[in-house]
Amino acid sequence: MKLFMLALFILVISYYAYPWPFTLATLLFSLLLNFLLNYWLVPGGFAWRNYTYYHRNPNKLHGPFSWPFLGFLPQMGSCAHRKLAKIASSLGSTRLMTISLGATQVIISSHPDTAKEILWSASFSSRPLKESTKLLMFERAIGFAPYGSYWRNLRRIATNHMFSPRRISCFESLRQLIADKMIGEVVKEMNESGFIEIRGLLRQGSLSNILESVFGSSLGLEGERLGLMVKEGYELIGEFNWSDYFPLDFWGTKRRCYKLGAQVNEVVGEIMKKRRREGELVNMKNDFLSVLLSLAKEDQLKDEDMVAILWEMVFRGTDTIAILVEWILARTILHQDVQEKAQEEIDTCVGQNRNVQDSDIQNLPYLQAIVKEVLRLHPPGPLLSWARLAMHDTYIDKCFIPAGTTAMVNMWAITHDPTIWEDSWAFKPERFINKEDFSIMGSDLRLAPFGSGRRVCPGRVLGLATVHLWLARLLQRFKWLPNKPVDLSECLKLSLEMKKPLACRALNRSSI
Ligand code: HEM
Repeated sequence: MKLFMLALFILVISYYAYPWPFTLATLLFSLLLNFLLNYWLVPGGFAWRNYTYYHRNPNKLHGPFSWPFLGFLPQMGSCAHRKLAKIASSLGSTRLMTISLGATQVIISSHPDTAKEILWSASFSSRPLKESTKLLMFERAIGFAPYGSYWRNLRRIATNHMFSPRRISCFESLRQLIADKMIGEVVKEMNESGFIEIRGLLRQGSLSNILESVFGSSLGLEGERLGLMVKEGYELIGEFNWSDYFPLDFWGTKRRCYKLGAQVNEVVGEIMKKRRREGELVNMKNDFLSVLLSLAKEDQLKDEDMVAILWEMVFRGTDTIAILVEWILARTILHQDVQEKAQEEIDTCVGQNRNVQDSDIQNLPYLQAIVKEVLRLHPPGPLLSWARLAMHDTYIDKCFIPAGTTAMVNMWAITHDPTIWEDSWAFKPERFINKEDFSIMGSDLRLAPFGSGRRVCPGRVLGLATVHLWLARLLQRFKWLPNKPVDLSECLKLSLEMKKPLACRALNRSSI
């Protein structure tokens, strides 16, 4: 009605004052302007136009205006977590902010209360599935399987057979062996070049660790091929993919995902076939593949589902650990006093005559505090990596959230919030000392780098066990120094990486 009145008003005024082409142009322009204002210039952007129309709730949901059709997509680059944190704080929308990613409605929480509400809500137990994720077969794996009996079954199998405390301690010898190899490589590299770029070595160590616990020690060429595939998969999922939002294959990403999915199927399928041919021997092996192949009949998975879950384990277990250890080393190099304190602790508890073991970690609270502090300042998943999807209409913070909305938690914003953390930008592991009960496993949303709720990371205990042991072994053996000034710039891909690989020097502590 308002629109009609406006058009009539312009028509009448213009008819008497100007020639008809000008009247027509003015009319069209005002209609277009009205359309733009109504459909695009809504808080949170274009995707929220119907929400604001039908559920006007001016006091509750706020978000930035953004580009027509694209919404906030152009800003979702390698610093998305920082930009979103800044906007949420400037709009006073840390509890809940709306944005549009293409035509997708997204809510973002940068506050522990609303983060908990989202992550623990039964309505947000699924994840949005993008085209690239589907093509890379993650739809059938734990991370992206829709919430329901299939997902519950996979998660139960993985929890019992891959992530149980018994299996994690079973694989300590493997973690030790890889730590020995890494230390050997550090010595070799130092002798040859006088410095070391630790990232490649950590990636290779993490890859061997996960490949062996998933497929056993007999992988030859297939292991190398899987390593290359993980690398390509990271590139494909890590880079922003426009075809996840628009039905066109920009830059051939979909095609590459499809091709990679087929290769994974072929390689993992071949490993499974080989293992089946070994028949009886399967039961004597200890790796995850053997466990899956020897499950009771009622638990047996289809071959394609097995490929998906095995591939997911390798994919998820490789980079997260390597990236975190690189950040920790960067921080301990930058803060030499922290490094010395950790080494003193190791010397007092373990000494120099034997290697640190898993069982020593509980007696190294300062080392654990360093890991917590790095997870706070550099959470590998600053937006908790994988978003959640509202399966049906729900309420968050008393606001109506329609089914199909994507929810993200900006964990980076929470862990840098000065109202939650004193001196929030400073690196101070001491803040966790005498607070051993501060859990980072998902119960306290002030620091939940592994997520929380039903879909919390199932690999968190294994991940932390690996990080603690390798860090302790590397600090026990070497004094770490910078090769050039440490650059803490970040780059958000699938995980939050150091933008420039850490280049450092490692001096044997026994010869200093
Ligand atoms: C430092 C190491 C790690 C970090 C920081 C990390 C972080 C995360 C985060 C933030 C989530 C999303 C949780 C949520 O939505 O609430 C997640 C999910 C997941 N992670 Fe991890 N992760 C790590 C190591 C691992 C490892 C070693 C594995 C397996 C080998 C693993 C397997 C998974 C899987 C399968 C999921 C999906 C769970 C589901 O949707 O049910 N993660 N991880």
